[in-house]
Amino acid sequence: MSSAPPGPPLPRRDRLDRRSTRTPARGPAVRADEHHDLALNPRDVRFDWSRLPMHWVPQEPMATHTMNVLHLLLPEGERWFVRTFREALPLVTDERLREDVIGFIGQESVHAEAHQGVLDLLLAKGLDPAPFVRQVEWLFHRVLAGREDLTGSAGREHLIERVAIIAAIEHFTAFLGDWVLNAPGLDRAGVDPVMLDLLRWHGAEEVEHRSVAYDLLVHLDPSYLRRMRTMAVTGPVLTWMWVRGVRFLMLADPGLEGRVRPTWRGYVQASRRGLLPGLTGAARSAAQYVKPRYHPTQEGSTGQAVAYLARSPAARAAAR
Ligand SMILES: [Fe+2]
Ligand SMILES: [Fe+2]
Repeated sequence: MSSAPPGPPLPRRDRLDRRSTRTPARGPAVRADEHHDLALNPRDVRFDWSRLPMHWVPQEPMATHTMNVLHLLLPEGERWFVRTFREALPLVTDERLREDVIGFIGQESVHAEAHQGVLDLLLAKGLDPAPFVRQVEWLFHRVLAGREDLTGSAGREHLIERVAIIAAIEHFTAFLGDWVLNAPGLDRAGVDPVMLDLLRWHGAEEVEHRSVAYDLLVHLDPSYLRRMRTMAVTGPVLTWMWVRGVRFLMLADPGLEGRVRPTWRGYVQASRRGLLPGLTGAARSAAQYVKPRYHPTQEGSTGQAVAYLARSPAARAAAR
């Protein structure tokens, strides 16, 4: 594979995390230059699922299973991120970005395994996730896999296209991370504390590393057209997979016996109770990606993410 030409200067070195100059909703005030000072480190977290109820948002099977789709998609999805970024690493000519990509790989590796534990628990409770997970595996191991038969510029092109898809997905994971860090409705609803910590620890690390995939993409190819093209495909495919995942989980849930069906009306009502992200906010966030001068640091607060990671029970236990 050919080596990459030097990319344009990275935006992160001279760009401030705009929201980081404010005091985050929860957590201490943070320095304005915090984001580009940040070193990304994986945290070797562990979660004890032995007491997790099937409907870990109490009395809310649809909200539970809408968020359970994360556990179906992320283990294979994030392992694919890791394989793709390892493949891209030799093309990175900026030392700071190289460190960030290595940190990203470390964090996503831990995320994948953390969600795998929930899949194992669903199976133990009588909900077999395997039929859906096999489809996810097909997507990431076949459709989106690296192609050893492609060499030179064709191989590089295929790799950059996959990095662009990851940058688009990471836009959504950062949106979700920011949402879960600012979702008091989950606390009010009495969400299982271990699951809530998993979601917020993962969400905080997504906010923490939200620039890396985008910066890598811009480093390899700053084309606005590629960014738009890959988002135009990634957004609808992700939404479609999510809807299918919720339907699958609710049908496979032995406690529901197929009596409860997910509906968009049910989604909107749950989002109004603060249990799921609002559709308007999600659409508004997707529209940000279209802006020519978009950068991931324009959304979310690194300070808030770092503050949560400082008090997350799983992250604190990992640090001991
Ligand atoms: Fe992740
Ligand atoms: Fe991520």
